[in-house]
Formats: sequence, C-alpha cells, structure tokens
Amino acid sequence: MTQTLRVKDMKLYAEAGSILVDLEATGHRTESIAPLPVEAVSAFDQLHYHGAASVEHGIDQLGIRADNRVLEIGAGWGGPSRVIAARTGARVVALELQEDFHSVGESLTARCGLADRVSHHRGNFLTIDYPAGSFDHAVSWLALYHIPDRAAYTTKIHHLLRPGGMLFVEDLIQGTAFDAADAETLNRELFANSMVGAADYITSIEQAGFEVVAADTMTEDWRTFTTERLAVFDNNRAEFMGRHSEALFEARRHFYAKIVEYFTVDAIGGMRLTARRR
Ligand SMILES: C[S@@+](CC[C@H](N)C(=O)[O-])C[C@H]1O[C@@H](n2cnc3c(N)ncnc32)[C@H](O)[C@@H]1O
Repeated sequence: MTQTLRVKDMKLYAEAGSILVDLEATGHRTESIAPLPVEAVSAFDQLHYHGAASVEHGIDQLGIRADNRVLEIGAGWGGPSRVIAARTGARVVALELQEDFHSVGESLTARCGLADRVSHHRGNFLTIDYPAGSFDHAVSWLALYHIPDRAAYTTKIHHLLRPGGMLFVEDLIQGTAFDAADAETLNRELFANSMVGAADYITSIEQAGFEVVAADTMTEDWRTFTTERLAVFDNNRAEFMGRHSEALFEARRHFYAKIVEYFTVDAIGGMRLTARRR
C-alpha cells in the first residue's frame, strides 16, 4: 500500500554522498579552496532528464529574473536550484525531504559560492510553512508524483505563489497502459504516491486555480533518453566501479532498468507543464 512506501525504497536515492566521490574523481577535491563551477556539478547533480538544458527551458518558460523568489519543490542535491540562481541571479529556496540529499546539496551550494542566493530547507512540502504569496515562481522536476495528496499540494503551490506567479513542472504520470494490478510494485520502485494520467494531471492543476499555459507529453522523449542512459551506464561500468561500490552500481542500474521497462510498456509517461496562478 502507498502508505507504507519509504523514500529509500527507490534505489536512485542510495548514497547521497556518491556525488562527492564523482567530483573528486573529476578533479574537484572536497578540501579545495577553489570555487566549484556550477557546470562541473551539473554533470552529476541533475536527477531528471536532459540535465541543465531542461532547467534552462524552465527558466525561459517562466521568465525568471534576478529580483524573483523561486521555490524548488523536491530539490534533491539542489542541482536545478543552483542552475537557476547562477543563470538568473534569482533567490531560490531548495526544499528537500531527505536529510542526506539536503545536507550534501547545501555543502555543494556553498562550494559553488551560491549560498547567498540558494537557501536549502529540509522538510516535507505538505507540512512546511511559508507565508502566502512568498514566491514569484515554483519549479519542480520529477518530485511532485512522490508527494501524497495531489489536491493538497497543488492547492498549497497556488497559496505560496503571488497572484500571476508561475509554475513549471516536469513529472512522471501514469502511462496509457498503466495497470492498476501492478501499481503496488511500480509505486514502490518509483516511490510514486500521487501518479495520475495526463488528462487528470492537467485538470488537477486547473482545479487548484491555475491557467495551464503549456502542457507537453514527454513520454517518447524520456523513453529514448532513459534507454540511452541505461546503455551508457552499462558501457561505463568499469569506470563506475573504479569510484563506487558494486552495491551502488547494482542499485542505480536496477532503477535505470526499471524506468526503461516502465516507459517501454507505457506503464508510465512524462509531463512537462507551465501554468500561471490566477
Ligand atoms: C527525482 S528527485 C529530483 C531532484 C531534483 N528536482 C532534480 O531534478 O535534480 C525528487 C526529489 O523529491 C524529493 N521529495 C519527495 N517527496 C518530497 C516531499 N514531500 N517534500 C519535499 N521533497 C520531496 C525526494 O526526496 C527527491 O530528492
């Protein structure tokens, strides 16, 4: 049952400290006093598809500017938040549920010299408290489907945005062949707590008080992306094993393979959406 799902059941979330090993291996020592370039971290810290390019797209869709306040919901290591702050100068709150991803992300932001622009908050979006209208923009990559109670979190996003504020989301959705009988396994593998189909996704955003400006189904694109990602991961096994444990290789491979399996049979799909708060 979804109530018993644990976030660490999703194998992508093993070993938050692994990114520090990857940075060391690519010449960015933790003890170095030289600033860490955001681009160097972006090679590892983007826990979604098409990395920083997708974040650039979100920045353009929303028109984020230096004097804006941005909330990233489900920030992981804070990769998208750092790209937004570095590119636009905006102030970003990177909200993350998992303590290990939150604290590693906060240390990366400090090393990038962005601590004055990106604030890392550890908490659950459903229960964390911010004043109404605190943000000009809310953004989220592959995180909303994790959060239980779609009606509660879409309403809360609306509440936290100023009138006219903008929302950009990339998210997993139920695919056209989503099978309710297999839902328990799929939900556990993906820590999916509120996945719905494409039409319901758009309706839920509208019902929360948004005008949907753009909504694109990303299923085919993400099927190709994840299939290539798995092939590259397998080809680079030796290099990965030179840095990390076999257990981490197996955990990450398991997750990458499951995603390909689910996209391939249309059990899951992808949504990219831009909306304006009414
Ligand atoms: C797939 S990761 C994406 C991270 C980041 N958006 C990125 O693209 O790099 C989704 C993140 O959402 C976080 N998350 C899940 N439920 C959450 C909640 N209720 N509140 C805040 N964060 C949550 C997870 O812990 C995870 O780190």
